Amino acid sequence: MEPKPRSASTVTMTQIVLPFHANVAGNMHGGEVMKLMDSAAGVAAARHSLSNVVTASVTQLSFIEPIFVGDLVLCKAELTYTGNTSMEVYVTVDAEDLNRGIIKHVCEGYFFMVALDRNGRPARIPPLLIESEEEQHCYDLARERIKHMKQAKNKSLNC
Ligand SMILES: CC(C)(COP(=O)(O)OP(=O)(O)OC[C@H]1O[C@@H](n2cnc3c(N)ncnc32)[C@H](O)[C@@H]1OP(=O)(O)O)[C@@H](O)C(=O)NCCC(=O)NCCS
Repeated sequence: MEPKPRSASTVTMTQIVLPFHANVAGNMHGGEVMKLMDSAAGVAAARHSLSNVVTASVTQLSFIEPIFVGDLVLCKAELTYTGNTSMEVYVTVDAEDLNRGIIKHVCEGYFFMVALDRNGRPARIPPLLIESEEEQHCYDLARERIKHMKQAKNKSLNC
C-alpha cells in the first residue's frame, strides 16, 4: 500500500457550544467534548484508511481549561502513528470566546482507532508517510505509548 502523509487526513471540526451541551453553570460537559474528539479522530482515521473505523482506546485525555456556552470549539485530529491495522490520532481542542476574540487550548488526548473490513475484522491500512523531524518524533513517542499500553493490558489480564 502507498504511504500517505499526515496532511491527507488531518481534519478540524467546529461546534458552537449551546446550553444543552452544558451544565447549569454554563460549562460544556466533558462527555460532549469527548464525543466531538472521538468524531474528529474517526474522520481522520477513516480518511487515512478509507474504511470503517472503531475506537479501540484513549490515553492521556486532559481537560486543561473550561469551555463555556457560546464558545466556538475547534477540534483538530491528526495521525501520529500507523501500525498494521491501527492508527494513533492526536486530538487537540481549542475554544474561542467569540465576544472577546480569545482562543484557549482546552483539551487534548490520543485516540487509537482500528480499521475494519466488511466482516468487522481488523483490516490493513496504508503506512503513514513521515515528512519531517517533528513527525518522526511524534511517531517515536506514539510507538513508546503503544508499547506501554500493551504491557499494561497484559498486566491487567494477569490479575
Ligand atoms: C478494536 C478491536 C477491533 C480490536 O480487535 P482484536 O480482535 O483485539 O484485534 P487484534 O488483536 O488483531 O488487534 C488489531 C489492532 O488493534 C490494536 N488494538 C487492539 N486493542 C487495542 C487497544 N485497546 N488499544 C489500542 N490498540 C488496540 C492492536 O494493537 C492491533 O494493531 P496493529 O494491527 O496495528 O498491530 C476490537 O477490540 C473491537 O471491536 N472493540 C470494540 C470497538 C468499539 O466498539 N468502539 C466503540 C465504538 S466506535
